[in-house]
Amino acid sequence: MAPVDSLSRAQLAYLTEIDQRDHIAWGVLHDDQPVAVARIVRLNGDPDAAELAVTVVDHFQRRGIARLLITVMAELARHMGIERFVFEALPENDALLTLLRGFGARYEMTDGVIAGSVDLNKIPAPELQSDPLSLGTKAQELAG
Ligand SMILES: CC(C)(COP(=O)(O)OP(=O)(O)OC[C@H]1O[C@@H](n2cnc3c(N)ncnc32)[C@H](O)[C@@H]1OP(=O)(O)O)[C@@H](O)C(=O)NCCC(=O)NCCS
Repeated sequence: MAPVDSLSRAQLAYLTEIDQRDHIAWGVLHDDQPVAVARIVRLNGDPDAAELAVTVVDHFQRRGIARLLITVMAELARHMGIERFVFEALPENDALLTLLRGFGARYEMTDGVIAGSVDLNKIPAPELQSDPLSLGTKAQELAG
């Protein structure tokens, strides 16, 4: 919920040394430049749910990239037996809340932070030329 200037070694390991099974992260590049990252992490105490996080670089926002990535994450998550995404956001994050409301998200505010969930059966299949499940299998192979 706050800007981060640098990552600790442990944070960097957490964000990059992922298994592509219970923790999936896909990045988007354009001309080798970072465009976006979408990440889902299965909850330890609630394996039917995964926390969702999406970030799109400012210059690439409002082109439908987050919406597409959420549909890709949902397709992979359904394959993992996950039934809903959970998320947290600051109440002023109109972009995220509008985006997720479009997928039927429900949420409430506690102690100044929005916490909510989206049922995966409300998120449509992604409109992609390639099957994200086959790309997901490739990602798992690469993750070892
Ligand atoms: C939230 C975020 C990921 C949206 O990414 P994006 O690629 O711009 O989103 P999309 O282009 O897919 O937008 C889809 C819909 O979401 C809504 N939306 C997106 N940005 C919005 C904004 N700034 N204000 C209001 N609605 C917005 C719109 O309904 C939009 O559809 P439209 O463009 O047809 O009107 C992006 O603003 C971001 O990276 N924010 C900072 C990081 C963050 O807060 N991440 C959430 C942590 S979980």
